[in-house]
Amino acid sequence: MEEIVISGPETYASVIQQQSRLLKGRSSSQGKKIELVQRGGQLELLETSAESSSTGSILRHRLAVDLFLKQQKSWPAAKQKPLSQAMGRKTRSVIDATAGWGEDALRFCAQGYQVTCLERQPLFALLLEDAMRVLAESSWVEKHTVSVPRVIRGDAVELLGADELVADCVYLDPMFPPKRKSSALTNKRLALLHRMIGEDADADTLVQVSAEHYPRTVVKRPNYAEPLWRKPNEQFGGKLIRYDVYFQTGGRN
Ligand SMILES: C[S@@+](CC[C@H](N)C(=O)[O-])C[C@H]1O[C@@H](n2cnc3c(N)ncnc32)[C@H](O)[C@@H]1O
Repeated sequence: MEEIVISGPETYASVIQQQSRLLKGRSSSQGKKIELVQRGGQLELLETSAESSSTGSILRHRLAVDLFLKQQKSWPAAKQKPLSQAMGRKTRSVIDATAGWGEDALRFCAQGYQVTCLERQPLFALLLEDAMRVLAESSWVEKHTVSVPRVIRGDAVELLGADELVADCVYLDPMFPPKRKSSALTNKRLALLHRMIGEDADADTLVQVSAEHYPRTVVKRPNYAEPLWRKPNEQFGGKLIRYDVYFQTGGRN
C-alpha cells in the first residue's frame, strides 16, 4: 500500500495542497500518482497506478463535456423515470449537493433544470468549475440559452439552508457503501473518487440537514443498502438503484 501523491501546474498549487492534506494517511494498492493536467482546453486527472507504472499505461479522468455536447439532440432532453418521478413534477431548480464528477449535474442541466453544484473535495470542485467553464463557452449553451450549473466549493452540511441557496429540490448521491461481497467498481472515474475519498461518513446528517431546509430531498441509493437517516416518504426504484425521497421536516426532530 502506498500513499497517493498529487501533482500539477503551479497555478493550482494551493488546491493541490488542500487536497493532499485531505488525503494524508490514505493509501491505495492501485492508484499512487495523480497528476492534474490541461488537455484539449479542459483540466483532467492522469492516474498512474501501481501496476500500470511498469507497463506505462495511464488512466485519464474528466467530465467528458465534449462527448456530452455531441449527444445533445433536442432541448430540453427527455426526463427518465424513475429519477424524474423522484425529482417531482414541479421541480425547476435543484442543488446537486454531492456533485463529484458532475455527471448527474450535466444530465439535470440538459433536462432544463437550474442547477447548483456543491462539492467539498477541492480538487474535484476545481475540475467541476473548469468543466462548467468549458460548457459555458459552447455553442449549445448559446443556442438554447442554457443555464450553466454554478459550482460552489464547500461542505453541503454547512452550506445547505444559506440564503443564496434556494431550490425546489436537493439531490444527494453520496458514496455507496461496499457490498458484503466485494465487487469491482466498473465506472473508473467513480473508482478513483472512492480510492481518494473513501466513504462519506456523514451522509445521514447530510440528508437530515437537507430535509430541514428544502421541500424535497432525493437520495440515490443502491438497492442492497438501507435508506440513510430514516425511512423516506417515497421511494422510486430501478433494478439496481432506487431514489429515496424526503419531504421537508420544518426543523430538527
Ligand atoms: C458518488 S460521488 C457523486 C457522483 C456524482 N453524482 C456524479 O454524477 O459524478 C459523491 C461526491 O459527493 C461529495 N460529497 C459527499 N458529501 C459531501 C458534502 N457533505 N458536501 C459536499 N460534497 C460532498 C464527495 O466528495 C464526492 O465527490
